[in-house]
Amino acid sequence: MSASGDNEVRLYLLPLGMTVRGRRDENILSVLVREKVSLAGACGGRGSCGKCRLLILEGSTGPPTTAEKELLSGEDLRRGTRLACQALVKGDLKIYIPASSLIREQRLLVEGVWEAPPFEPPVKVVRARGAASSTGGPPRSDLSLITASGGEAVGAEAMRTDLEGLKEVSLGLRSGGSEVHAVFRDGELLGTVRPGAGALGVAVDLGTTKVALFAHELSSGEAVSSCGIPNPQAPYGEDVITRLQHVLEDRERGNDLARLVREGMNEALSGMLAAAGYSTRDVFEVVLVGNTAMHHLFLGLPVEGLARSPYMPVTHLPLEVKARDLGLSLHPAAMVYLPPPVAGYVGSDHLAAICATRLKEREGPCLLLDIGTNTEVSLQVEGRIRCCSCASGPAFEGMGISQGMRAAEGAVEGVEVDAAGRLEVRVIGEAPPAGICGSGILSALAALLKSGALEDSGRLRPGHPGVSEKDGEAACWLVPPGKGGRGGVAVTQSDIREIQKAKGAVRAGVEALLAEAGIPHTEVKEVLLAGAFGSYLDPMDILSIAMLPPFPLEIIRQVGNAAGAGARSMLLSGDFRRRAEELAGDLDYLELSAYPPLARLFAASMYLTEEAVARAMSRFKV
Ligand code: FES
Repeated sequence: MSASGDNEVRLYLLPLGMTVRGRRDENILSVLVREKVSLAGACGGRGSCGKCRLLILEGSTGPPTTAEKELLSGEDLRRGTRLACQALVKGDLKIYIPASSLIREQRLLVEGVWEAPPFEPPVKVVRARGAASSTGGPPRSDLSLITASGGEAVGAEAMRTDLEGLKEVSLGLRSGGSEVHAVFRDGELLGTVRPGAGALGVAVDLGTTKVALFAHELSSGEAVSSCGIPNPQAPYGEDVITRLQHVLEDRERGNDLARLVREGMNEALSGMLAAAGYSTRDVFEVVLVGNTAMHHLFLGLPVEGLARSPYMPVTHLPLEVKARDLGLSLHPAAMVYLPPPVAGYVGSDHLAAICATRLKEREGPCLLLDIGTNTEVSLQVEGRIRCCSCASGPAFEGMGISQGMRAAEGAVEGVEVDAAGRLEVRVIGEAPPAGICGSGILSALAALLKSGALEDSGRLRPGHPGVSEKDGEAACWLVPPGKGGRGGVAVTQSDIREIQKAKGAVRAGVEALLAEAGIPHTEVKEVLLAGAFGSYLDPMDILSIAMLPPFPLEIIRQVGNAAGAGARSMLLSGDFRRRAEELAGDLDYLELSAYPPLARLFAASMYLTEEAVARAMSRFKV
């Protein structure tokens, strides 16, 4: 980076990916406040709370102040950690802002901005003059009024139509209005738009844990509304495998699970659209992406193929199904488009994320991880994309963790070690600490390693002053019970083992793809973390516990819900949809369960420090 003027300097902020301008010799906090980047400073910039920590990756700042020497450890200062309210800007800077220093609302920024493709939806709205206002000779039929309007290509001999749609057009043309808005999808007449409303499309990202819905106006592409609900199937299994097993025991249960999720979507859509002034009847098209198990369970397809090797889905092709046949309460002629699953354990959601991030076109090698109950990983090298799926399980969502909870009020979301070696927790909202969420537990492991309470094998160090007991098991209390901490929040030895398995599965998958591509991790130019969890975790924490190879922090980018962004793009662009379908056939899928070195890679990846992982890899000769 070079200086941009006598007094003016540029500050490049990671992982926000923003560049802001500042003046030489002002403190970093002043620049950030001016640019509306809000840090979690409890002392208002007086240098006493130590909450406004940053990491200076490149460029020069003034020497550490007395306050910084008191609040930061020697190791922190050596690594380049500074306090934003103390450090003076001396030139252009590249700064990493840890999640712990950003206020929660600000972290939404790292969810990334959806970039809409050129607008060219498969569903189009055509204006046709009504019978009452027809001029010239008598029309031959109701349909001829639409063909005369020069709208969608309507065959002279025949026309594809939904029967319900045709009835609606006829009634609409005769209802006395001067014109009707007819809706076509790829040449098929679907119906008419309600007077005063628009034709809507809905993109759905059907996750194992959450369902995200985004509604768009199909005449303009404009976003109308969005919402997220928990997946109503969750009581029948927190992860994909349990849910599949539930259905395998009794095939009828498949219909029950399908009904549950469809009803959940109906309910969510009716509330979300009513609040925006629309009706579910205004929805003519749905694009639904999801992992392959969710895809099958939504459609009520048999799941036997997914549960047993070689883990084959029912279809590798895109599907179009009438919404009414699925029990979705939308316009009667509405269609649901489901992009193709890639493999048994890499679904159309990952395909959507690959397309939304333009992984194929990026300067590679480039890695994309969609972290969740199942973590899909893709590695692009010279335009070729290899992908795999890692069974990371629900621990990242806080499930299977003794005091695990979703990232809601009262959840511990971050843990730090202060200069005196004490643990400090960050809790969501004002509520007393009630449990720990996924990002919190990763952060806790990183802090416990740093404090020396945790060994790199994952064992809580016996005799360490920070290690005590909970319910007869070795544990570290992050928030001691009593006073404001009420029952307290602890991380137990079993919790740590759960996270080790989850992070080990992800690391093993990444190592397998690097080995298959024949490149070392040092050649990777960019690492994209997608998914809601990928947006909230702190990349510093995942590097600290060796969940990924030791990539430089500055190549890691958080890209938010890329699967949802891809689904929205497919809703608004037929071309985007076609390119996704082509790409699905080009992806090289690596089935990890049939990959001989996986067990050794996984065993080595369970260690919690880079040194220990590297030692184990060489010992296991992987
Ligand atoms: S804001 Fe409190 S130390 Fe900087």
